[in-house]
Amino acid sequence: MQRILTGDRPTGPLHLGHWVGSLSQRVELQNDYDTYILIADVQALTDNFDNPDKVRTNVLQVLLDNIAAGLDPEKVTFILQSAVPQTAELTVFLANLISVNKLGHNPTVKTEMQQKGMDESVPLGFFMYPVSQAADISVYDANLVPVGEDQVPHIEVTRQLVRKFNGIYGDTLVEPEAKVSQFGRLVGTDNNAKMSKSLNNAIYLSESSEDLKQKIMSMYTDPSRIRATDPGTVEGNPVFIYHDAFNPDTDEVNDLKERYRKGTVGDVEVKQKLLAALETFLAPIRERRSKYDNEDTLMQILRAGTEKGRNTAADVIGRVKDAMKIVRV
Ligand code: TRP
Repeated sequence: MQRILTGDRPTGPLHLGHWVGSLSQRVELQNDYDTYILIADVQALTDNFDNPDKVRTNVLQVLLDNIAAGLDPEKVTFILQSAVPQTAELTVFLANLISVNKLGHNPTVKTEMQQKGMDESVPLGFFMYPVSQAADISVYDANLVPVGEDQVPHIEVTRQLVRKFNGIYGDTLVEPEAKVSQFGRLVGTDNNAKMSKSLNNAIYLSESSEDLKQKIMSMYTDPSRIRATDPGTVEGNPVFIYHDAFNPDTDEVNDLKERYRKGTVGDVEVKQKLLAALETFLAPIRERRSKYDNEDTLMQILRAGTEKGRNTAADVIGRVKDAMKIVRV
């Protein structure tokens, strides 16, 4: 069986954007692949080193979000990144194989540096996290990496590092492939391209019915449409983007779109139907959350998965050291 490796930085609860970008693919692929999910706490610290409490408290939350989303803890291997020291070893070896200049061209890192105000002075750990991410993937011999679009440059760095490593030291590491979600990126409820807690524009997998209703009913729609009888624009309208992503009743969605374009449906009805669709979507997620929402259970899942991951990583690092002619004592 081929192996999947993907993961999340534990910096906050997972939201519908994570579902569209990555979680839905994981759930779909878990039966066909040996699936490893990384709780990337070391990477989370690269831009949260001064807020360790935030990372710590989100480790089990992100694990629970993954399980609630539908990943079966009986099948899937959940790994705590910091508890696999072989990843740090491989990061150091791979760091020899890429230039600072090349790392500086990574578009995702560049955007993040701007957003986080790191333009003037970027911490080395953050700047080189794509190398550490390449180690995350390679240290488990992963074949496939299901990710959102923003992660593609990192998988490209990984592929280049693997090719370079294998070229110099002989065939050792597996060259992985990215699997990018079909849907693309989900906008925030306010039409902002980025979802964040501070903007209050994200809907979480753990959202309560009350907050969900409030967020949906105040969602941004077509700003040029004043009355329900005005013809409206469907394309690029967040309410319809969400319908397309989360309402499986395509007849209903098409009917709403048609009437919206003609000006024979109000925003309220469109939003109420979206709310109903999201309630249906979230129901099984909430059920699984309540079943697994127990610290001991979650710790046990994480401990068992991490141990398994560490064994895989130890094998790979053994191969890596042999290939690099490192003296073993
Ligand atoms: N960079 C990813 C994110 O921000 C998290 C991540 C860490 C990851 N290591 C990974 C994703 C390895 C895929 C593979 O969401």
